Amino acid sequence: MRKHIVAGNWKMNNGLIQTESLIAELKTKQKTSDAEVMIAPSFTNLWHAFESTRQHDIEVVAQNMHFSEKGAYTGEVSAGMLKSIGIKTVILGHSERRAYFNETDESLAKKVDTALAHDMRVIFCFGEELSDRKAGNEEAVVESQIKNALFHLEADAFKHIVLAYEPVWAIGTGETASPEQAQDMHAFIRKTLESKYGHTVADDMTILYGGSVKPNNAKEIFSKPDVDGGLIGGASLKADDFYAIVNAF
Ligand code: PGA
Repeated sequence: MRKHIVAGNWKMNNGLIQTESLIAELKTKQKTSDAEVMIAPSFTNLWHAFESTRQHDIEVVAQNMHFSEKGAYTGEVSAGMLKSIGIKTVILGHSERRAYFNETDESLAKKVDTALAHDMRVIFCFGEELSDRKAGNEEAVVESQIKNALFHLEADAFKHIVLAYEPVWAIGTGETASPEQAQDMHAFIRKTLESKYGHTVADDMTILYGGSVKPNNAKEIFSKPDVDGGLIGGASLKADDFYAIVNAF
């Protein structure tokens, strides 16, 4: 079922003390919208964040995981490890993972399979580079990212997937896709899903926009009919800004 979601991707920010104080502040904020709220702290703070939001309407999610169950993968974290501390959702395929850690459509397809095998929900990220958009290739790029990593799945699996369209040129740059650019791409994503899985899967899919969403532009972006929420980087590190975005619905 389609939902409103606002997820804060903390990236490699906030040690234990900052995590504690930001969560304490987030818990004082009033939620006036119907959006599901998620935060994605670093691995080292996941357990603490999970414990301290237990009684709260905030889901703690992971920023990444490995596709293997276990073994000799120094520095990696498995789906089972995340599940063992209560984490039920994982962000996969963020453009920073693709750009700096060599994640590919193929490795992401494996990660998606592993997460789903563990009954986890996946926030699957994708989006074009500036050069793709300048060349008019943004739809082709997005279509291939979705097809290569997800189109081996059965229709039923899409109930556990949230899509996050994040044009790389808009991430952390202060430059946002215009609400129209976001809407056009989200409509295209739905059409792509519909072509393979039919109307219900496409219509039920929650599609988030990510890339410099701020309190001053969230309302307009979220007002578009195919935009169901946001994946928020920089602005999720300030409780006031984050909740202004959560409440923009
Ligand atoms: P940003 O990051 O909001 O800082 O642009 C978005 C993201 O990377 O998810």
